Amino acid sequence: MKLAFGTDHAAAEVRNKVKEYFQSGGYEIEDFGFSGEGSCDYPDYAVKVAEAVVSKKADRGILICGTGIGMSIAANKIKGIIAAVCWDEDTAKLAARHNGANVLCLGSRTATLSELCQRIKIFLGTPFEERHLQRIKKIKEIEKQQCRK
Ligand code: RB5
Repeated sequence: MKLAFGTDHAAAEVRNKVKEYFQSGGYEIEDFGFSGEGSCDYPDYAVKVAEAVVSKKADRGILICGTGIGMSIAANKIKGIIAAVCWDEDTAKLAARHNGANVLCLGSRTATLSELCQRIKIFLGTPFEERHLQRIKKIKEIEKQQCRK
């Protein structure tokens, strides 16, 4: 499975450790930043990761900022993205199983390194349940109608 990965400065301390954990677990990771010093704007990285997922260059996107909230707001502006902020293992599982999320957004200020890795692992390992498809189709319909305006 190929992952598109992006963070802002709030995740500077954990980003490489998260990346290494999944690379050593056999995942191919494309890292879209942020790797510099100082601060940056999370929408820049959310869009890069979202576009990689929509264009199928990556199977899933992982975004980490301070809370996951800003990343999810920005990523959800890209057509085809279902980005979910998950604050524990259950929400990470249900975002994949019920919501068909293709991007997971996490908060470096609201979780430890091991909690972040555990949530990502659960998200990636949980398949979508077809019985929820009808709801996802309705979301796609909203997206289609809004994009015509
Ligand atoms: C950056 O300070 C912070 O606002 C950002 O990482 C994120 O938490 C936004 O939702």
